[in-house]
Amino acid sequence: MKNTRSFYTCLCTIALLLLTSITGTAQQPGTFTAGNKQFLLNGKPYVIRAAELHYPRIPKEYWEHRIQLSKAMGMNTICIYLFWNLHEQREGEFDFTGNNDVAEFVRLVQKNGMYCIVRPGPYVCAEWDMGGLPWWLLKKKDIQVRTLKDAYFMDRTKKFLAEAGKQLAPLQIQNGGNIIMVQVENEYASFGSEQPYMEAIRDAVRASGFDKVQLFRCDWSSNFDKYKLDGVATTLNFGAGSKIDEQFEKLQRVYPNEALMCSEYWSGWFDHWGKPHETRSVASFIGSLKDMMDRNISFSLYMAHGGTSFGQWGGANAPPYSAMATSYDYNAPIGEQGNTTDKFFAVRDLLKNYLQEGETLGAIPAAMPVIAIPAFELKQTAPLFTNLPAAKASADIKPMELFDQGWGRILYRTTLPASTSPRKLVIKDVHDWAKVFVDGEPVGKLDRRRWDSVVEIPAKNATSQLDILVEATGRVNYGKAIIDPKGITDKVILRSASFSKELNDWQVYNMPVDYKFQKSVKFRKKSHSGPGWYRGTFRLKEKGDTYLDVSKWGKGMVWVNGNNLGRFWKIGPQQTLFVPGVWLKKGKNEIVIMEVDAPKETTVAGLTQPVLNALHPDESLLHRAKGQTLDLGGEVPVASGSFTAGTGWKDVQFSKTITGRYFCLEALNAQQAKDPLTSIAELELIGLDGTPLSTLKWKVVYADSEEVTASNSAADKVYDQQESTFWQTQSVGAKPAHPHQIVIDLGEEVQVKGIRVLPRSDKSSAGMIKDYRIFLKVDAFKM
Ligand code: GLA
Ligand code: CA
Repeated sequence: MKNTRSFYTCLCTIALLLLTSITGTAQQPGTFTAGNKQFLLNGKPYVIRAAELHYPRIPKEYWEHRIQLSKAMGMNTICIYLFWNLHEQREGEFDFTGNNDVAEFVRLVQKNGMYCIVRPGPYVCAEWDMGGLPWWLLKKKDIQVRTLKDAYFMDRTKKFLAEAGKQLAPLQIQNGGNIIMVQVENEYASFGSEQPYMEAIRDAVRASGFDKVQLFRCDWSSNFDKYKLDGVATTLNFGAGSKIDEQFEKLQRVYPNEALMCSEYWSGWFDHWGKPHETRSVASFIGSLKDMMDRNISFSLYMAHGGTSFGQWGGANAPPYSAMATSYDYNAPIGEQGNTTDKFFAVRDLLKNYLQEGETLGAIPAAMPVIAIPAFELKQTAPLFTNLPAAKASADIKPMELFDQGWGRILYRTTLPASTSPRKLVIKDVHDWAKVFVDGEPVGKLDRRRWDSVVEIPAKNATSQLDILVEATGRVNYGKAIIDPKGITDKVILRSASFSKELNDWQVYNMPVDYKFQKSVKFRKKSHSGPGWYRGTFRLKEKGDTYLDVSKWGKGMVWVNGNNLGRFWKIGPQQTLFVPGVWLKKGKNEIVIMEVDAPKETTVAGLTQPVLNALHPDESLLHRAKGQTLDLGGEVPVASGSFTAGTGWKDVQFSKTITGRYFCLEALNAQQAKDPLTSIAELELIGLDGTPLSTLKWKVVYADSEEVTASNSAADKVYDQQESTFWQTQSVGAKPAHPHQIVIDLGEEVQVKGIRVLPRSDKSSAGMIKDYRIFLKVDAFKM
């Protein structure tokens, strides 16, 4: 008897040990609910202080370090997205291993005594390729996403959620795990208002096994009421420096019993290639965080630590098309390398005053070693044209997805007829950057950020070979432009004074991003300075993190010991790529660079500090040519008046419907006397049906003044669909006086009934417009 008992005790201990090794600290099942104005953890009021981390933006070996740093900042929870396109890179092939082992990540969080919030998508945004949706959805030519209208999208979504559930549903708090909440979709109100779609996603999340956990959704204070979602808590997202009471005012009116949470409190912001580096001051960020803590409002810091969009994972915004930089440092409290910053200590100093019963401030883990690598040359090259993979023949031009390629570069080749005079090549549309060659000689580059589509083709008295090398940068991750196939999406036309002909009969060369493919090219010790692969080796005595200086290179991608560090582009603002020390080796290391343009020099070096703020734009950042002035003399406004003071959308109704293509808003003064500035967060034009017109073809053609040095406050921020970003006239140094104007080419004639303007919504009210005039015309303005 005694023996049997001790046998069973032994068995139980083994079982417990096993469970502990699987789940970290094995826990008793618990409860977590939202309701009656507060969150309840095991029945007791609980304020969530969450840190958002993205497991694919951190090498697995560093996961625990970043989790511990978050705990040391005063957090009790880690918030994560799941990235569908990371886990299902080919349809039906799921991968949750290695750096994709999200269950392991969640268990590490639990091991460190923290809770977890999971946001499985299917759509996540996150400045991530296609917002987390898989590229292969684009093989279906009429694909629609985030809607019930596409049965295929819904079917694939459910399959992914089911796989996610297999990984994580066992870790719900009610099962003894640490997952306290699961999000349904992501900021859906900024995309659509199809309530049945959100209900279907909610039901799919439940059906995937998340059957016990508290569900929530996140939206903005301005739009959360676009749809209702029964059984799901509503939380709000907003940025550093927001006015907290104002943010929650409407939510408390609509849902008086809601537990208050800012599910994304933006600690900084993301960088775009070719645009000023983004920062948010410690003071404005900490101020509103304290306001939340003083009100017992739960929050998740987006991002606590941004990390790196390694490989091909960085996304893009549009319109105007603008790809994300590789670093996702985000100006977050924990820097890209896992380094502590002033913001980190400011958060820690604040949050230590708000710990709840049983909570302790985590110790700051030791810093990760950083090393320098002296500059060295990449001596081997593999020129692009002599290393092309096997061609696929195609009568029509098509985007890369239709050749079964997800990411990377694609080359389209055909024959041009002889011609005694120069011609124009019209490429529709380049996604996202192209270099064009005739008989191997470069003749032009096209950049989607500028809507480029035309290249001059020289006269040739014989037929010639046309090559169009296209590099895909990130897929659009936000808004209606999210269906964003890569390569050439429509057609290529050869045009002269006397003819116009669509080119076909293409040879297509697919160059994916896998290291296996880069390795298959033939490297030689020969000098070469054009597009192709470059390879070098370097030796290390000690391992450590480093920042690879790629400032001498043009545009492309880097692999170190087979690990894809991500994209680089000489225009900056980022000039270094983060190299995690765990991807390096003592002894010999290999580096391969795929260059689509041309390097200035073929050297790299490892630096001990990142360079994230060295912008070398290849075009002016301003929407105004030198000396250019807008002439509104003789123009008749379609509306004029005064905006009321205060935040929130302001509506202007025209006295009649106006048809036009060129829109101008002129600010005559500001709400505060003597304030010389103008700022606008968002602008919408209202069409005949009372809803905002599409902004997909909009282009700012003039802004009298823009702040693009102290901050990224260019005029196109009025239609980036982000309420926290804004156009502001120059605010540092010279502050030009009123009036201020912005002119937008709407891309086509439209009928407009009125406009809506959203002033900035942070604590500053600088630049808020009082008196205005609005113009809308069929013809362009004089300037
Ligand atoms: C939104 C999204 C996030 C991210 C941020 C901006 O809040 O939900 O995924 O894109 O914007 O960084
Ligand atoms: Ca904006």
